[in-house]
Amino acid sequence: MSSVLRLAALLALARAIVAAPTASNCTGTIASLDDVDDAVKCTTVVINSFTVPAGETFNLELADGTTVNMEGDVTFAFKEWDGPLFQVSGKDITFNGNGHTFDGNGPDYWDGQGGNGGVTKPAPMMKIKISGTYSNVKVLNSPARVYSVSNPAALTMSSLTIDDSAGDAPNSKSDGKAAGHNTDGFDVSTTDLVIENSTIHNQDDCLAINKGSNIVFQGNTCIGGHGISVGSISSSVTVSGITIQNNVIQDNDQALRIKTDASATGSTVTNITYSGNTGTGLRQFGVLIDQSYPDTLGTPGTGVKLSGVNFVGSTNSLSVNSDAQRVAVNCGVGSCTGTWDWSALKVTGGSAGPITNFNGIENFSQ
Ligand SMILES: *[C@@H]1O[C@H](CO)[C@@H](O)[C@H](O)[C@H]1NC(C)=O
Ligand SMILES: *[C@@H]1O[C@H](CO)[C@@H](O)[C@H](O)[C@H]1NC(C)=O
Ligand SMILES: *[C@@H]1O[C@H](CO)[C@@H](O)[C@H](O)[C@H]1NC(C)=O
Repeated sequence: MSSVLRLAALLALARAIVAAPTASNCTGTIASLDDVDDAVKCTTVVINSFTVPAGETFNLELADGTTVNMEGDVTFAFKEWDGPLFQVSGKDITFNGNGHTFDGNGPDYWDGQGGNGGVTKPAPMMKIKISGTYSNVKVLNSPARVYSVSNPAALTMSSLTIDDSAGDAPNSKSDGKAAGHNTDGFDVSTTDLVIENSTIHNQDDCLAINKGSNIVFQGNTCIGGHGISVGSISSSVTVSGITIQNNVIQDNDQALRIKTDASATGSTVTNITYSGNTGTGLRQFGVLIDQSYPDTLGTPGTGVKLSGVNFVGSTNSLSVNSDAQRVAVNCGVGSCTGTWDWSALKVTGGSAGPITNFNGIENFSQ
């Protein structure tokens, strides 16, 4: 063999060794966890109905460009552990739930304590680490927090259902309180994410943005929980470019909230836009902007700089219960800055709340 040929053979071998495994143009069908390793070698994956054994994660590490179709419901057997119950990763993925359900068996876990004690609950239930689209999936009865989203590139999540409505009622372990607790819909620390056209019935934040930018939450319906939140914001994080529009918020503690930790330092929250949101039956506040978290309207911190919070475009129309406050703003001294345009905010019912340590709100009076 000539030295040139030897070199060529060597290069081919080297390429074969370093090349990522490429998925084949085939359909892999999953009807138990044993099927997963083979199925993810295909660029079309079908999920049939099955039960995931207790204490195991249904983990899908998909090849780039894979399409997933659910053709049945997936149930997770009960075990006290941290989870997650389901995790999916990959780039440029098309994930179609086709209306099928991931059932977290929440009633077996619920004790009114969520993540604060009692039964150890898998949380989050669903870890989404894909780019592309994720749609038409139903989550029923999550043990605690539902979705944690950390997409590697742009992701649109749409037409989803989270139904933890059964957790509104007390059970034998919950001491008269709602049995479901800390059942956040979406916990988001990411960039380039759209969540739209989804319905969330739960007992905590519908959406909680802990950090990130270019996030749109629109056309969703939030029922029963703690509303749409930016925060809580801890130390050394940035949140910017958030659009929250055309959502319907029913019977929540508050509709729209920004909560920053009283103890946080070195963080920035800016450019938050609210447009066309509607809220009814709000139990505590219409809008709550509070720098004293975890207290409510306690002593505010000054370590999170908050600016550019605007209600513009279509009217945000909120109706609070008679014993609730319409708008409360609790800034630290000097930590809310600039001018905020609140011309598209209309809140009725209840009483006016306090506006503390900030004079920059324009085009609004309550
Ligand atoms: C995959 O297979 C289908 C069905 O045989 C075919 O129509 C399609 O063109 C193939 N796609 C690629 C990328 O090879
Ligand atoms: C969400 O709903 C809007 C309004 O109906 C529609 O235009 C949009 O296409 C929907 N998004 C998706 C991803 O289906
Ligand atoms: C605010 O965020 C919006 C939406 O993400 C973006 O289009 C706009 O450029 C941002 N404005 C500033 C001043 O950064």
